[in-house]
Amino acid sequence: GLAQSSPGMMAAAPAAGAVAEAKLTILYGSQTGNAKGVAEEYKAQAESAGMTVSVVNMADFKGKKLKDETHLVVIVSTHGEGDPPDDAIELHEFVGSKKAPKLDGLKYAVLGLGDSSYEFFCQTAKDFDQRLAALGGTPLLDRVECDVDYDSDVSAWSEKLTPLLKDELQNGQQNAEVVAMPGVSLTGAAANYTKKNPFSATLLESQKITGRDSVKDIRHIEVSLEDSGIQYQPGDALGVWFSNDPLMVDRLLELLALDGSQAVNVGDDSLSLRDALRNKLELTQSYPSFIKHYAEITQNTALSQLAEDRPALREYLAERQIVDIVAEHSAKIDAQALVDSLRGITPRLYSIASSQAEVEDEVHLTVALVEYDAFGQPHQGGASGFLCKRLEEGAELNVFVEKNDNFRLPEDPNTPIIMVGPGTGIAPFRAFMQEREAQEAEGKNWLFFGNPNFTQDFLYQVEWQRWVKDGLLNKISLAFSRDQQEKIYVQHRLLEQAEEVYQWLQQGAHLYVCGDANRMAKDVHDALVSIVEQQGQMTREQATEYLTDLRKAKRYQKDVY
Ligand code: 2AM
Repeated sequence: GLAQSSPGMMAAAPAAGAVAEAKLTILYGSQTGNAKGVAEEYKAQAESAGMTVSVVNMADFKGKKLKDETHLVVIVSTHGEGDPPDDAIELHEFVGSKKAPKLDGLKYAVLGLGDSSYEFFCQTAKDFDQRLAALGGTPLLDRVECDVDYDSDVSAWSEKLTPLLKDELQNGQQNAEVVAMPGVSLTGAAANYTKKNPFSATLLESQKITGRDSVKDIRHIEVSLEDSGIQYQPGDALGVWFSNDPLMVDRLLELLALDGSQAVNVGDDSLSLRDALRNKLELTQSYPSFIKHYAEITQNTALSQLAEDRPALREYLAERQIVDIVAEHSAKIDAQALVDSLRGITPRLYSIASSQAEVEDEVHLTVALVEYDAFGQPHQGGASGFLCKRLEEGAELNVFVEKNDNFRLPEDPNTPIIMVGPGTGIAPFRAFMQEREAQEAEGKNWLFFGNPNFTQDFLYQVEWQRWVKDGLLNKISLAFSRDQQEKIYVQHRLLEQAEEVYQWLQQGAHLYVCGDANRMAKDVHDALVSIVEQQGQMTREQATEYLTDLRKAKRYQKDVY
């Protein structure tokens, strides 16, 4: 049939005679906040170029409304095995469905954020690009896919895009009211600490909270945000900038026989090679682009071949830091060439373990120290080594809050919640309980926690026991995996409690899962499907859909890593 526009609604296609309102919509889908940050920055840039811009989270955008858009920018990240962020699930599904409208009048640009270590790099961005084109949309420029350190790719993309959009929008614009007021709208933002403008906070305390005989080393970390005015909510994460281990940097310089005091350029900065390696470049995670560049510069055919073999490359990278690769393949290399083969250091996000209702201007974290021997050398994780070992109490660190609206307590304090958080996944639930305690919330609370051993690894045991005693925590189900012959994990406890878990869900409980993404979150999801299938007398498909509906209703939220 014919697409009909209701009275007063602008027709999407300028060809139809009517001139569409010349405005730009930026749609973003973001899991950890990066895509959201890029969307907001691009909005500011487009506005100072005189455009009328709105930024909308995909979760708040009705797919049918796409046909009213003339100029659209899509900024979306990809996670795990090519999955869209929670925000984007519905719209992603919609644009691929038969319900999606024709978009002949649409001009668009897609920017993807992802991690090239994963096979389905920027898959969600690819999907949006293909589907918008298939619906009749015209790309303004080729899709750009950004890797983990995305700043320079985003800048290059936006520099190309802005003049194109300006042409487009100003040509179509009749009552062009150019409201260019750069600066004015930025004053509010200037007070906010962000990834690029972090707050210099103080480390108050760093304390090991696993036992002496534990197989793990987990720290409780307290940071002072005094005088920053920073506000965070339970569910948010703290972004932490870190510097690399000076001993590792020295070893790298030695392996390559490079002089650390020589000057190099990183972006627009000129600094010493040693400073660049300590503070600006990613050394503790390794990545495909390094292998490609390093193989080229050093004409190493073994590494070039490895770069072509995805599964082998992935395994190789997972086991090695940059220094290990260089040790295996040391060669003569120019300082600037080394710098150019490395990507920029990025801050790490830690789920916040405190509520400001309880700790005011502090922020608490639960950090697993990554520390191991490999290839005959001691190794540490980048940020965890920095936070737990190299940073002294009283020292400064650069931090910012990363909002996470995909992990929030229910608005209604009477709503029950089920929290599944083994290992460091416990962190946001400590924040949830502090918040609910301060609110005197009446909703029931149920915690599922697991770790290797009861005597060594019951994180924040005293606090949980107090909350049980005080009646705040109604149920606690523990899975200590190594206290008996067979492994017992949180998902086993969920299955044992199937009837009650399902009752809580039917009573409107919100369900939260935090922690390991690779195995735990998947196994917990499977257990939940089984529970709903069994207890709700549904088929496996219906049970899966039940959980999808919970996700869409924001009643099943995950913070997994
Ligand atoms: P394990 O190391 O004894 O196997 C928190 O890190 C807990 O997660 C540990 O007790 C760990 O047990 C457990 N764990 C490991 N694999 C898991 C999985 N697939 N599902 C749930 N928990 C798991």
